[in-house]
Amino acid sequence: MIRNAGARRAHWSSRWAFILAATGSAVGLGNIWKFPYMAGESGGGAFVLIYLVCIAAIGLPLLMAEIMLGRRAQRNPVDAMAVLAREAGASAAWRALGVTGVITGLLILSFYSVVAGWMLDYLVLGAGGGFAGLDSAAAQSRLSALLADPQRMLLWHSVFMLMTAAIVGGGVAHGLERANKLLMPALFAILLFLLVYGLIWGEAGRAAAFLFHADFAKITPGVTLAAMGQAFFSLSLGMGSMMVYGSYLKRDTSIVRASVAVAAMDTVVALLAGLAIFSIVFAHHLEPAAGPGLVLQTLPIAFGDMAGGALIGSLFFVLLVFAAWTSSIALLEPATAWITENTRLTRPRASALLGTAAWLLGVAVVLSFNAWRGVTLFGLGIFDALDYLSSNILLPLGGVLIAVFAAWVMKAGHSRQELNLDATLYAVWRLTLRYVVPLAIVLIFLQLTGLLPRLT
Ligand code: PFF
Repeated sequence: MIRNAGARRAHWSSRWAFILAATGSAVGLGNIWKFPYMAGESGGGAFVLIYLVCIAAIGLPLLMAEIMLGRRAQRNPVDAMAVLAREAGASAAWRALGVTGVITGLLILSFYSVVAGWMLDYLVLGAGGGFAGLDSAAAQSRLSALLADPQRMLLWHSVFMLMTAAIVGGGVAHGLERANKLLMPALFAILLFLLVYGLIWGEAGRAAAFLFHADFAKITPGVTLAAMGQAFFSLSLGMGSMMVYGSYLKRDTSIVRASVAVAAMDTVVALLAGLAIFSIVFAHHLEPAAGPGLVLQTLPIAFGDMAGGALIGSLFFVLLVFAAWTSSIALLEPATAWITENTRLTRPRASALLGTAAWLLGVAVVLSFNAWRGVTLFGLGIFDALDYLSSNILLPLGGVLIAVFAAWVMKAGHSRQELNLDATLYAVWRLTLRYVVPLAIVLIFLQLTGLLPRLT
């Protein structure tokens, strides 16, 4: 047993508090924005089918592993990896995995906050009736105008970062738990409302056919790998976010059941968001395969064209803001826990300091859409470079190493004790994590970084 594990440490007040917070981390822009547009681009049902397999076969075992590491160590990800490595008699260098995770969280936060800021801007636009009468050209120029306006983007980026740092500064009970307990039920309620709206006034049948009719001819290696990468990002894996949330979990909570609940809710939200969005898109004769423009260009046209569009449209953007908010909290938490547990800085100070660091990097992201457009790193603009580095390199790397640590390095007796699974299920979990997960992630990594010839 690890010394002092959990002594005097803040904990979630219940299993539900943890499940809501971890679901809050998982459900984000990835579910409501990216999943529907990826499904739209990759032929709907075929993509969804593979996505579901990836969540169950790769995402879930890794989610269990990451939560388990945090819960056992009862420490922030950096110190967690250090004590777990010591306990396993492994190299102290495993600590670097925690450090990489903490940094990756801040890198993602820097651009996640900028994008969430766009959602705040559209929320205000929609609530003020700004979607009325938008046609495709107007919707496009509205988005271009926002991206060309650094002051406006900076304003929203700053507001969103303040919202994030304020919650994280509040601590586990009064910050993270309280925010998730308010925001997540509200998020579910809004999503259900939009779904019912889509069922009654939209083309729900066509949306369902589009999302669930799997055309097996469209299942290609490229689609498979894209689905795998998305499953991974959507469950917030590979960077210590689930680890730090697991570290606030009490010993008597079932990690397996909680993980299944989180993975299921994350998936259900992505599917329901897809259904709601495509019901509306089809009812207004718009293009489902609009790519990233689906939410900021296509949907506003539909909102502008419907009765009550200001209300429906702004509710939709509230949904996106809440989803992004609970995720950005989870992005800032690993670093904040690390600093708070290792320096004399108080939690509010640590979160303000780290939020400021991510905010500064976000300023460069804002400028990369306008004034610094020509600035490139490895041939990519600043926004794309940060996204590429974190999503395509650091997260898969973190994922493989977490799988290797949990299934190869950690003593079987310890992981078995934490997971509390029967012998067969435990053996399946361990074998999956030993072979299937690393292989799958290495393939995603090679594909995403272009080291493997691009599969279509
Ligand atoms: N899972 C989030 C999404 O789908 O948008 C993204 C994310 C949040 C990744 C928090 C990692 C994380 F720690």
